[in-house]
Amino acid sequence: MKILIAENMEEFDNLGASIVADVINNKNDATIGFATGSTPIGMYQKLIDMYNDGKLSFKDITTFNLDEYVGLEKTHNQSYYYFMHDKLFDKVDIDENKVNFLSGTETDTFAECKRYSDLLANNTIDLQILGIGANGHIGFNEPNTDFNSVTREVMLTEKTISDNARFFESIDDVPKSALTMGINEIMASKKIVLLANGKNKADAVYNMINGEVSAECPASVLQLHNDVVVILDKESASRIK
Ligand code: GLP
Repeated sequence: MKILIAENMEEFDNLGASIVADVINNKNDATIGFATGSTPIGMYQKLIDMYNDGKLSFKDITTFNLDEYVGLEKTHNQSYYYFMHDKLFDKVDIDENKVNFLSGTETDTFAECKRYSDLLANNTIDLQILGIGANGHIGFNEPNTDFNSVTREVMLTEKTISDNARFFESIDDVPKSALTMGINEIMASKKIVLLANGKNKADAVYNMINGEVSAECPASVLQLHNDVVVILDKESASRIK
């Protein structure tokens, strides 16, 4: 793992954006795996700035998002579909025909997950962007997920529901389950960049980098990948050795 510790959030966002931009500029039709959450928002803004400055085009890329809440329509302001369009896709020249999402509103969630798994099996992700949950989850692969897992429906842990409640009117509005890419599919990406910031991520970051490779901290599996860049701020890096 290559670990970069940013001096401030400006540097944090720029470090992430330059990795994404390098991958796309080296391969215009790259396949990029996108992540949601508050952590990558600043990086997405930097990518929009690069696009506005004529330094980056998204028109030939294919995208896959990591996960989606079950039960939220695309138009719901907390759906990850809405998030990605609001924070990045609607502001750049992305080709909507090349945007791939899990749908959280299919009655047959099993078939929906199979559809996505099959797509992933036929598309190698050149760069997967990841955040990390305070409990070490990646995507919505919660602690004790099998490393061989593929796209499926998962129940969210109480910790994740309470962490994500800040985005909803009340904790009761947070969906109880989600569809997520599996760990096996995340690990199949050629390159991975994981971003974490804030004190509440310090334990998860420590377990990911210095802990044993264990399903108790799903992100620790990244120790087994040969091209991972971890971008941290000083607070999230405060426990690592
Ligand atoms: C959600 C997402 C994860 C994300 C995590 C951290 O649970 N499913 O992909 O990494 O939240 O979010 P934040 O960046 O807001 O801390």
